[in-house]
Amino acid sequence: MILYVVILISLTIFLWIFIATAWGAPYIPSNIRTINKVLKWLELKSDQVVVDLGAGDGRVIVLASLLYGSKSIGVEIDSIRYVLAKFLILLLGLKGKATVIKGNLYNFDLSNVDIVMFSLLPASIQRLQPKLESQLPSGSKIVSFQFPIPSWTSAFVDEEKRIFVYEIDDNRSTCL
Ligand SMILES: C[S@@+](CC[C@H](N)C(=O)[O-])C[C@H]1O[C@@H](n2cnc3c(N)ncnc32)[C@H](O)[C@@H]1O
Repeated sequence: MILYVVILISLTIFLWIFIATAWGAPYIPSNIRTINKVLKWLELKSDQVVVDLGAGDGRVIVLASLLYGSKSIGVEIDSIRYVLAKFLILLLGLKGKATVIKGNLYNFDLSNVDIVMFSLLPASIQRLQPKLESQLPSGSKIVSFQFPIPSWTSAFVDEEKRIFVYEIDDNRSTCL
């Protein structure tokens, strides 16, 4: 009986990871210190809009709103993590500043966003790339945790912490 329960739990976990990977990335939350480092480096302002594509438990958007007063939006496809992020936002009294949307990150409109962050697999980044190039306004910044954006020149790289920062300039040369 115990063996069946163990097999069932293992299969459920495997399926959950498999589905998340097919969506864009499995759930591997970013380190809080790394997020803090990035947010500090970005010198966030309270009038800036920050988006985390694949928000997980909402830690990136919560920290951005809590520490810098930024308007932050997370997009999360997984129901459990979406509820977790929503709960965290309510718990910390950030309603109105931080928001989490349940949905697919590829459908989110980026045209009014100042900073986009994500921690996705290389294939998902490649799929997202044309959207970043066509929708993001000049001057906006992109932070990719774990993997670089292919063929783009980064404005800042921390190889050890796997942080890759990009900026869309006027002639969009950084993304070519
Ligand atoms: C590696 S985790 C990163 C979580 C968070 N951004 C962080 O840095 O801690 C990736 C998250 O993206 C979510 N995700 C994957 N594909 C997605 C998609 N197509 N639309 C929205 N969320 C997605 C996963 O459910 C997971 O929570």
